[in-house]
Amino acid sequence: MTDSGAGRKAVAILISGRGSNMAALIDAACAPDYPARIALVLSNRADAEGLAEAQAKGIATAVIESKGKDRAAFDAELDALLNASGIDIVCLAGFMRLLTPQFVQGWSGRMINIHPSLLPAFKGLDVHRRVVEAGAKITGCTVHFVVPEMDDGPVIAQAAVPVPDGATADDVAAAVLAQEHVIYPQALRWLAEERLAVSGNTVTVRDAELAKSALLSPLP
Ligand code: GAR
Repeated sequence: MTDSGAGRKAVAILISGRGSNMAALIDAACAPDYPARIALVLSNRADAEGLAEAQAKGIATAVIESKGKDRAAFDAELDALLNASGIDIVCLAGFMRLLTPQFVQGWSGRMINIHPSLLPAFKGLDVHRRVVEAGAKITGCTVHFVVPEMDDGPVIAQAAVPVPDGATADDVAAAVLAQEHVIYPQALRWLAEERLAVSGNTVTVRDAELAKSALLSPLP
């Protein structure tokens, strides 16, 4: 990876909708000691709500419409824009489009995603409804390296969230989202600091002090 600007890694955040994780990453990157800067927010939908918020926060935005576009053609356009923008790291944040294995390979080790469950449990969509219907007592969220398989790849950080009796899917979604906003900026920090070592499916945070805090838990 190359350093950009004032020695901080240049990050592109890919969104498809609301962009609350995007906002959490942008806000975290405002800290003077944060090792990454958000260089670009990109959406595959022109109507993604998060685009306006990114612009309001002074971040460059771009749209590559995916509707009706061949998957390989979309990914080639995306790859070209990311490279032209000097991007070091890609963060998927509610980016609801599958990427081709070719694109994923090209960004291997430099692209991370957040998913609102404790992977490998509850991959896919409509997670919180399925968690409640399954009677799970604990759920959470996961930041992981992106691999060609959906919602898979080495886990960088997770946070656990209890599911109290009677909780609705909306209750669970809100509690999990609050933790997403904690662990995503933390995981990006570690990646940008080049502290993450990957061996098979296992990610180790290089630095004993930080490794301890990798076991984030919001439980009392
Ligand atoms: C988040 O809960 C994120 O974990 C989820 O989409 C939501 C986007 O919200 N991502 C996935 O389900 C990916 N498989 P946001 O746009 O407010 O960040």
